[in-house]
Amino acid sequence: MMANKKPFTSAIIGTLVALSIIALVLSLVKVEDVTLPPTVKYGMVFDAGSSHTSLFVYEWDSDKENDTGVVSQTLSCDVQGPGISSYAYDPPRAGDSLRECLDKALKVVPAAKQRDVPAYLGATAGMRLLREQNSSVADQVLAEVTKTMQEYPVDFKGARILTGEEEGAYGWITINYLLDSFTEFSPKAHTWLRPEVANIFGALDLGGASTQISFVPEGSVLNQNEASKFTLYGYNYNIYTHSYLCYGQNEMLKRLAKELIVASAPSTRVCHPCYPKGYNETVRLSAFRASPCTDRSDARLPAGDSTVTLEGRGNASGCLAAVRELFNFSACGQSRDCTFDGVYQPPLRGQFIAFSAFYYNFKFLNLTEGQPLATAREAIEQLCTRSWEDLSSSYPKEDPKRLPKYCANANYILTLLLDAYKFNETSWKNIFFQMKAGSADVGWTLGYMLNLTNMIPAEAPTRVKGHMPSLWAAAITFIILTLVLGLTALLLLLWM
Ligand SMILES: *[C@@H]1O[C@H](CO)[C@@H](O)[C@H](O)[C@H]1NC(C)=O
Ligand SMILES: *[C@@H]1O[C@H](CO)[C@@H](O)[C@H](O)[C@H]1NC(C)=O
Ligand SMILES: *[C@@H]1O[C@H](CO)[C@@H](O)[C@H](O)[C@H]1NC(C)=O
Ligand SMILES: *[C@@H]1O[C@H](CO)[C@@H](O)[C@H](O)[C@H]1NC(C)=O
Ligand SMILES: *[C@@H]1O[C@H](CO)[C@@H](O)[C@H](O)[C@H]1NC(C)=O
Ligand SMILES: *[C@@H]1O[C@H](CO)[C@@H](O)[C@H](O)[C@H]1NC(C)=O
Ligand SMILES: *[C@@H]1O[C@H](CO)[C@@H](O)[C@H](O)[C@H]1NC(C)=O
Ligand SMILES: *[C@@H]1O[C@H](CO)[C@@H](O)[C@H](O)[C@H]1NC(C)=O
Repeated sequence: MMANKKPFTSAIIGTLVALSIIALVLSLVKVEDVTLPPTVKYGMVFDAGSSHTSLFVYEWDSDKENDTGVVSQTLSCDVQGPGISSYAYDPPRAGDSLRECLDKALKVVPAAKQRDVPAYLGATAGMRLLREQNSSVADQVLAEVTKTMQEYPVDFKGARILTGEEEGAYGWITINYLLDSFTEFSPKAHTWLRPEVANIFGALDLGGASTQISFVPEGSVLNQNEASKFTLYGYNYNIYTHSYLCYGQNEMLKRLAKELIVASAPSTRVCHPCYPKGYNETVRLSAFRASPCTDRSDARLPAGDSTVTLEGRGNASGCLAAVRELFNFSACGQSRDCTFDGVYQPPLRGQFIAFSAFYYNFKFLNLTEGQPLATAREAIEQLCTRSWEDLSSSYPKEDPKRLPKYCANANYILTLLLDAYKFNETSWKNIFFQMKAGSADVGWTLGYMLNLTNMIPAEAPTRVKGHMPSLWAAAITFIILTLVLGLTALLLLLWM
């Protein structure tokens, strides 16, 4: 009997051993697959603002394109010099200004992947204003930045001027993407859940030449000009977004100076309530004719190109009053759903992230820690009354061009948020002044790239985050392997 069994046993054992080896090899291959580095992809976006340009490089795992929260910021680079619209008189320099940051970006992207990097340039209000003044010059500037970007080994996807509404909407997408408010994976339910709509953040953006507000309003009735519709991860969003051109902080300061000059014309010495006492600024009248925000063929502006000296008065209440004059609140009449200049806005809803210049000015004032409105008012009033001598010696490291402007900027922010947008003591608590979410900067660039690379699908995600498919495969192979080995052992025991 034993003699008969032996060849048979050997054959079975041989087969089983062979099977086990195959299974082992298969499982090892799968295990290796799981631990391999994921396929990282990169994308880059230039934010060409009115006063400066920044480059952002993002990276993500391409296996997880349709999941959330996977894009991270690899690099941010500040372009030296002013915004590209400032090179209207020498457009090629606008292109050259980008080189340093492009070189830096190529250092963080592996050479093999550079040709696949989608590269965008989006210009905002500074270029919108230049286009208004002279569209052929604006086109030349865009052509020059295009030429430069095309010289680099990246997948250049275009340089264009964003509309104010796009700028607002993409900022809103960025914030909610980074804060995971669109969709989140529930490990318990093993599915994607939609977070409460009430947890979606609004976006408040203050730039040099324009300012944007974007949020999901309570009602669905909207002035269609101000509405943006998105379908993200299977849900529809109707957001209200408005961009105010000429209401960025630099254009606001210019408009303020012009109003003060006009009010005391033809005097060449003009009191400026927002500048600190002891601080003088000399301006040329031609500077006001250079921007559509301050010109509009204003007949009240003294003729010629004389200079005017603005003398700081450090008058906090005078500053707030002068800033308020830049808004036409009476144009709203009795309407509550109106900010100023007759612009429609539904009632505010939910929490807001206030970034860019909202953040930088309040950061200087130490007001980004959720202080109540009364504290903010007090800090701003105090700052406004400090003399130039006091300020410049207290903040020796601060840019001396920026330092005298914080008072005007802060009063402008208060007026915009309270009188125009209609935040009050209570809803003030819903504003979070911050510039980062996770390790990424808040701005429109990420939202822009996410949309243009189709990384936020209209449909709900179906796949689970991580490498579950390979993990499952590995697990199944292991189970087969264990079963085969167990069986082998059992058979050996029975037959021998
Ligand atoms: C625009 O700028 C170009 C070049 O500086 C100039 O030749 C042209 O006349 C300008 N056009 C307008 C409408 O100002
Ligand atoms: C500012 O200008 C006024 C008059 O134009 C002058 O009296 C004053 O000394 C100037 N202050 C500074 C700091 O230059
Ligand atoms: C500050 O400005 C207000 C309004 O312009 C004015 O009434 C007030 O007299 C000024 N205060 C000082 C101290 O100059
Ligand atoms: C404010 O707007 C109203 C209505 O559009 C207009 O009649 C009024 O002249 C404006 N006021 C100023 C100061 O521009
Ligand atoms: C903000 O706080 C820092 C440190 O706490 C302080 O040095 C600075 O003077 C404060 N700035 C203002 C404007 O109060
Ligand atoms: C503040 O505004 C909210 C609406 O955003 C309103 O419900 C609330 O009554 C207001 N509070 C005060 C004190 O006015
Ligand atoms: C996103 O990009 C697509 C083109 O890919 C465009 O049709 C769509 O309007 C964009 N969405 C938004 C919100 O701008
Ligand atoms: C992501 O979604 C788009 C459609 O929204 C689909 O075409 C694409 O294949 C998806 N990508 C992955 C990796 O699932």
